[in-house]
Amino acid sequence: MSTYKEIKKVTTHTLQEMKLRGEKISMLTAYDYSMAKIFDAAKIDVLLVGDSASNVMHGHETTLPITLDEMISHAASVIRAVDRSLVVVDLPFGSYQGNSKEALNSAIRIMKEAEAHAVKLEGGLEVVESIKRILTAGIPVMGHLGLTPQSIYKFGTYEVRAKEEAEADRLLNDARLLEEAGCFSIVLEKIPSKLAKQVGEMIKIPVIGIGAGPDVDGQVLVSHDMLGINKDFSPKFLRRYLSLYDVIKEAVEQYISDVKSVDFPNEKEQY
Ligand code: KIV
Repeated sequence: MSTYKEIKKVTTHTLQEMKLRGEKISMLTAYDYSMAKIFDAAKIDVLLVGDSASNVMHGHETTLPITLDEMISHAASVIRAVDRSLVVVDLPFGSYQGNSKEALNSAIRIMKEAEAHAVKLEGGLEVVESIKRILTAGIPVMGHLGLTPQSIYKFGTYEVRAKEEAEADRLLNDARLLEEAGCFSIVLEKIPSKLAKQVGEMIKIPVIGIGAGPDVDGQVLVSHDMLGINKDFSPKFLRRYLSLYDVIKEAVEQYISDVKSVDFPNEKEQY
């Protein structure tokens, strides 16, 4: 028997209520119809059409190359699969930085063409104007602080962020600014657990962590990582629930062998 409250459709308000009653929020990335259908049936609270699609779906080394058109295509497939989950879509690199009008136009395209429920973007002070402008159109915005992969060439590494006091102070200030600007939630990526706890206690909107410890309002993982579709990405924060790479490879090897030996198709598998 489930101990959590039955929710028909998750909205940004549902997440706020969950924070208030101390119920943790579950979030996973999804990029296509079939996976999203399974995750929604499992009752995941939030599906993130992350720009990590650039890595796990398109094979790029970073999240920078994925385009707005590609993100919209992924998001539209996810939306078609979902009955219950809140679907948040990443604004890709180059679609919102430094120009709040372009940010608004990009967010409108995602909402209109994919029929998404909310958008997410990376950064603090430098994107506050864009966030405010997107909100004027009634589009809910999720923030993203800490390790922000779209800035990888500025950071130089994917190491833990905000370990030093100056960067931690900047992050606390950014979290406050994002809340004041009107974000409905913030993702904190790869920062010390103590700092994430401080942010979660300081702001009233839900804080979702990835590599940010247990003392936040929810957790997000990249689905390809937690299902073990990727074998070569093993950060300390990742819990792998399956080794799908091996499961799929073994199934395909068996299929190849069955085809070659004419074991497949058998008498029942033909007309
Ligand atoms: O794109 C993504 O998958 C993300 C998560 C890591 C939060 O932004």
